[in-house]
Amino acid sequence: MSAFILLMGIAAALLLQLAVFAGIGFWRQWRAYQALRGVAAAQGMPVDALAEVDAPPPAPAAWAGYRNFRVARKVLEDASGQVCSFYLAPQDKAPLPAFLPGQFLTLALDVPGPGGASGPVVRCYSLSDAPQPAHYRISVKRVAAPGSSALAAGLASHFLHDHVAVGDVLRVRAPGGHFYLGAGDAPVVLIGGGIGITPMVSMLNGCLQQHAGRELWLFYGVRHSDEVAMPAHLRAVAEQHPNLHVYLCLSEPQAKTAGDAADHQSGAVHYHHGRVDIALLRRLLPLKPYHFYVCGPTAMLQSLVPALEDWGVPEERIHFEAFGPASIRRNTSAPTLHAGGGDAPAPMVRFAKSNKQVAWDASMGTLLDLAQAHGVAVNSGCRAGSCGSCQTAIASGEVRYLSTPDFDAEPGTCLLCVCAPRTDVTLEA
Ligand SMILES: Cc1cc2nc3c(=O)[nH]c(=O)nc-3n(C[C@H](O)[C@H](O)[C@H](O)COP(=O)(O)OP(=O)(O)OC[C@H]3O[C@@H](n4cnc5c(N)ncnc54)[C@H](O)[C@@H]3O)c2cc1C
Ligand code: FES
Repeated sequence: MSAFILLMGIAAALLLQLAVFAGIGFWRQWRAYQALRGVAAAQGMPVDALAEVDAPPPAPAAWAGYRNFRVARKVLEDASGQVCSFYLAPQDKAPLPAFLPGQFLTLALDVPGPGGASGPVVRCYSLSDAPQPAHYRISVKRVAAPGSSALAAGLASHFLHDHVAVGDVLRVRAPGGHFYLGAGDAPVVLIGGGIGITPMVSMLNGCLQQHAGRELWLFYGVRHSDEVAMPAHLRAVAEQHPNLHVYLCLSEPQAKTAGDAADHQSGAVHYHHGRVDIALLRRLLPLKPYHFYVCGPTAMLQSLVPALEDWGVPEERIHFEAFGPASIRRNTSAPTLHAGGGDAPAPMVRFAKSNKQVAWDASMGTLLDLAQAHGVAVNSGCRAGSCGSCQTAIASGEVRYLSTPDFDAEPGTCLLCVCAPRTDVTLEA
């Protein structure tokens, strides 16, 4: 046999092996998906409707601009005193519009700046309870300076904890956001990491209020039990509702705390020693067409969202939110952040009011990063497309969105914090 024929034979064998592996992978995904559809059909759910989020689209903002709210109550929610709830009642005492559980409020806070200067600091906070007739509730975690750095600790969160008292008035925009619990009876899995628990508690309470019999699972990841926010409430609702399964997942359990011992059950609450990960979900969740709602640190979202897709959960049944700048790559989505421009010339970004011009490249991040790096004065708040602070008029050219924003920018403007230039662009900044 000649060397050529031998080489061809080896190449053919390799190709055959690759085709077999690809085929097995596809077959596994297909079987998992068909199994979910089968379960849905057996439960009498319209299979085609599974692909849809069965909730009305969010209503337009309930009021324009900011409205004054008085702080009616402040409540520390965890043993370590890091999470504080604020009960906000409208100063005008007019009826309080409902919201969709999972949505957030935007606050403009008059935080005193260096040298006594004061300027509004805009931040978003998820509503942390079901809609109530007389007040909204948000729950805020103190944000420490990263590691041992000399950077200042979180501005708004410390201001709220340390300086905002009962009776103070805060300026609040109407509830908004596209991350909210769909209506209907489909079973739901809520996954909250750290302070990402706030929209989950709102969804949980909202669901128990509206559809008390709906199957609900809550996986709540924290380091240890002193960090668990609202433990008494979670225990109480788990005890009252057999259709609710609560798992507290402790990644750094403390030996001294009885509740932190290895996996066990305390009342109706299950304690798991470890992170919320796909292995845990696969082990505990029966095969059903769940809707998954995930909110937590970037690392959690970046690992869980693709892992859920790999497990066979269709994209439209995975809903997630990050509390800051985060790009979560879905398996199926095209790359969005920092997409390379090939050989195309770098778009030129002109800041008309500041009379500055910069050639953009992917390493510069968003248009907000670019503006701030070049001393262009622009407002910013959430840096996640949620608050609208960085909305800027486009004089000419086009931008592209790197992630879907929650704030609906006005026509002819863009949100700098989640945009990059598509063409040469001139901005009114
Ligand atoms: C839709 C949405 C919902 C949210 N819901 C909640 C919620 O329910 N509860 C909640 O607690 N939070 C929530 N957040 C987060 C919240 O909006 C704030 O981002 C958070 O409170 C931190 O704000 P801060 O002003 O305290 O911190 P910032 O002052 O913004 O600082 C944030 C971090 O950056 C560090 N830092 C400061 N200066 C610099 C610098 N120059 N360079 C680099 N790093 C620096 C700080 O030390 C700190 O670690 C939500 C965010 C969004 C977008
Ligand atoms: S900074 Fe909040 S939308 Fe851009």
